[in-house]
Amino acid sequence: MQPVAEAVVDLDAVAHNTRLLSGLAAPGAATMAVVKANGFGHGVLPVARAVLASGATWLGVTSLAEARQVRDAGIDAPVLAWLYGTDDDFAWAARHGVDLSVSTPAHLDAMPPGVTVHLKVDTGLTRNGVAWADWPDLVRRAADLERRGTLRVRGVWSHLASADDPGNPSVHRQLERFEEALAVAAKAGLEPPLRHLANSAAIVDVPAAHYDLVRAGLALYGVEPVDGVVAGLRRAMTLRARAVNVKRVPPGTGVSYLHQYVTDRDTTVVLVPAGYADGVPRLLSNRGAVAIGGVRCPIAGRVAMDQFVVDAGDLDVALGDEIVLFGPGDGAEPTVEEWAAWAQTNPHEILTGIGARVPRTYIGNAAAPSFGAASRKEQPHG
Ligand SMILES: Cc1ncc(COP(=O)(O)O)c(C=O)c1O
Repeated sequence: MQPVAEAVVDLDAVAHNTRLLSGLAAPGAATMAVVKANGFGHGVLPVARAVLASGATWLGVTSLAEARQVRDAGIDAPVLAWLYGTDDDFAWAARHGVDLSVSTPAHLDAMPPGVTVHLKVDTGLTRNGVAWADWPDLVRRAADLERRGTLRVRGVWSHLASADDPGNPSVHRQLERFEEALAVAAKAGLEPPLRHLANSAAIVDVPAAHYDLVRAGLALYGVEPVDGVVAGLRRAMTLRARAVNVKRVPPGTGVSYLHQYVTDRDTTVVLVPAGYADGVPRLLSNRGAVAIGGVRCPIAGRVAMDQFVVDAGDLDVALGDEIVLFGPGDGAEPTVEEWAAWAQTNPHEILTGIGARVPRTYIGNAAAPSFGAASRKEQPHG
C-alpha cells in the first residue's frame, strides 16, 4: 500500500553529520549520538546503525525502554541511559552493558551490583542532575561503592543551559562549576575516564566543553545548532505527501474549518493528507507553506487532524503529485527551522512530533551493510 505521507530519512546525511561533528570534537573526545525519542523522530535503529558506522562510538537514550530497543536489535555499542525513577529494571541494564546515569542520591541507593554509572551533576541547568549540596556526599559514597567492587564509575557529566546562545555567561559559569565538581570527585577518589558536558551547540561553539566525549543530538539530524554559525550540516528528513484532492474554486470560497481562509481569485486548492495527528502543527494554519513542483504554496485555512489545504494558485497540479512539506532546503521547500518558526517552537519539537502513522523511508548507503540494500522502509515504533 502506498503511503499518502512519509518521512524520507537520508542516512548519508546522518553519516555526513556524524563525521563532521566527530571531526569538530576535541582530539581524543569520543562522540555519543543522542538517539532518544526515536532518533529525534528519524527512527532509532537505522540512525543508530548509520552513526555507529560513521564515527560515533556511543549512543545516548533517556529511558531503559529505548536502551532495550537498541539491545534487542543486536546493537552492542556502548549506551548511556539517563532518565527514569528509582524503581526501574537497573539489573537489566547491568546485564546488558547499558551505562546508567545517577542523578539523585536515591538513584545511587537503587543501583544493583554490577552496574556502570555516570554521575550527573547539576551545574546550573536546574533540571536533572545531583543537586550541588548533595554532590560531595554522593561522590564519596560512589567512590566507596567502587572500591568495594559494587559498581563502576565511568563518567561524570552535566548538561548546559545556553550553549546555543553565544556569549551567554551561564556557559562559563557552568564550565567553572563542572571543574569544581570534577575536583570534588577527584578528592573523593574518583577520576572517571569520561567527563562530558557538550551538546550539539557546544560541539560547534564551545570547545572548552568537549572533555572526553561530546553528545550530539539535533546537529546529527542536520539542523545547525547555533544561529549564525554554519558548520556544514545536512538536514536528514524530508516530509512529503501526495495530493489527494485538487479542485479549482472561484473567488470568495471559504476553505477548511471556520473558513478562516477565503480565496481572493480563481485558484487551485490542493488537499494534503497529513494533519496535526501526523505532526503538522495547527499553528501553521494560514501561516505555513509547502512546495509543489518546486514552487512554494501557502497553507490555506485551518490544519485539521489528518489533512490541510494548500492554495496552489494557477499551478498545474494533478492528483498524486508530490508535495514537500519540509526538507533539506536545497530548493523551494521550507526547512524544519522555518516550520519551527511558524509554529513558535524549536526544530526538535517538529522532528520528534512527526506522528507514528507516518512511515519512515530510508535512503542512502550509510547503513547498507546492515540493510543489505540502499533503501528500505521500516515501521515507525510506538
Ligand atoms: C542530556 C542530554 N545531552 C545531550 C543532548 C543533545 O542535545 P542537542 O540536541 O542540543 O545536541 C540532550 C538532548 O536534549 C540531552 O538531554
